[in-house]
Amino acid sequence: MKKKSFIFLAGHKGLVGSSMLNLLKSKGYNNIITVDKKTLDLRDYKQVKRFFKKKKIDYLVMAAARAGGIIANSTNQKDFFLENVEIQNSLLQLALEKKIKRTIYLGTSCIYPKFAKNPISESSLLTGELEKTNQCYAIAKISGIKLSEALFHDYKLDIICLMPTNVYGINDNFDKVNGHVIPAMISKFLGAKKKKKKEIRLLGTGKPVREFIHSSDLANAIFTCLKSSQKKIKKLFKNKLPIINVGSGERLTILKLSRIIAKELKYNGNIVFDKNFPDGTYKKNLNSEKILKLGWKPKIKLSTGISEVIKYKNN
Ligand SMILES: NC(=O)c1ccc[n+]([C@@H]2O[C@H](COP(=O)([O-])OP(=O)(O)OC[C@H]3O[C@@H](n4cnc5c(N)ncnc54)[C@H](OP(=O)(O)O)[C@@H]3O)[C@@H](O)[C@H]2O)c1
Repeated sequence: MKKKSFIFLAGHKGLVGSSMLNLLKSKGYNNIITVDKKTLDLRDYKQVKRFFKKKKIDYLVMAAARAGGIIANSTNQKDFFLENVEIQNSLLQLALEKKIKRTIYLGTSCIYPKFAKNPISESSLLTGELEKTNQCYAIAKISGIKLSEALFHDYKLDIICLMPTNVYGINDNFDKVNGHVIPAMISKFLGAKKKKKKEIRLLGTGKPVREFIHSSDLANAIFTCLKSSQKKIKKLFKNKLPIINVGSGERLTILKLSRIIAKELKYNGNIVFDKNFPDGTYKKNLNSEKILKLGWKPKIKLSTGISEVIKYKNN
């Protein structure tokens, strides 16, 4: 990938996309193609095809998606299914049509079975039942992997599928209901502090174990994959579609996470867990050996990352 390569970054305003945009700009890539959802709805392939008719694309990063936390996911299963399938179908067809040199497909650790052996390796895919609260999102993402596999084998399209663990960062969705666990929790703690509440109620039992990655570290992983030579990829994956987990290796319970956030915000009230809400998968830690073999490693410690996010949110 050269500095003048044309890179279509789909979803550039999102948590992952905006981090990727910053990284590419900081490295001097100046032919980055971005387009707003209002101008181009990526669910509509006809529109997408027309929009790119006379445009060159060398590389594609698929960071556009319908994403969200456990409540958003479990209560909007239809939309999580349809929107993700439609967006990825359009973008993968575009990759084929434009003979894009390398496409990075972003999946998620939610694709793995609820009871997969931890740390979860890529070979666990489709070996067991999925977690119910996000099964439509997971199935949509799995369908994208399978379409990528078909394009990889039948059309020799260069695609790498990344499966990140839970992502957090400064440009997140801080909605208390629809956001992912870290931003939603930060907003709840800030609200409790502001109202001087003596107690804060969080969802679930607090017992599930999670792994988190900062969006800048994930952007670096995407960049590593864009830059890795075909020779290196072929050596590591033989003739199979590369499916690559991206985790930080930093794992903790939701209870521990809540204590880190409380300490950072100097919130001294009681933390109470509401067991009437679902926990999701009990343990979701990734085996990230493959991406480490490609030369990537995470740089941002969870405590440092959370402190940075809180500073951003407070300003
Ligand atoms: N966040 C996580 O914890 C996490 C974990 C694992 C994997 N991932 C994956 O990483 C990728 C990026 O996630 P994210 O957290 O960055 O999501 P995000 O913050 O919600 O960003 C998604 C982006 O996609 C755009 N988009 C959505 N629907 C679109 C449409 N129909 N047409 C055009 N653009 C559309 C959004 O545009 P607007 O800004 O205009 O709405 C937004 O910029 C997704 O594939 C997700 O599944 C995320």
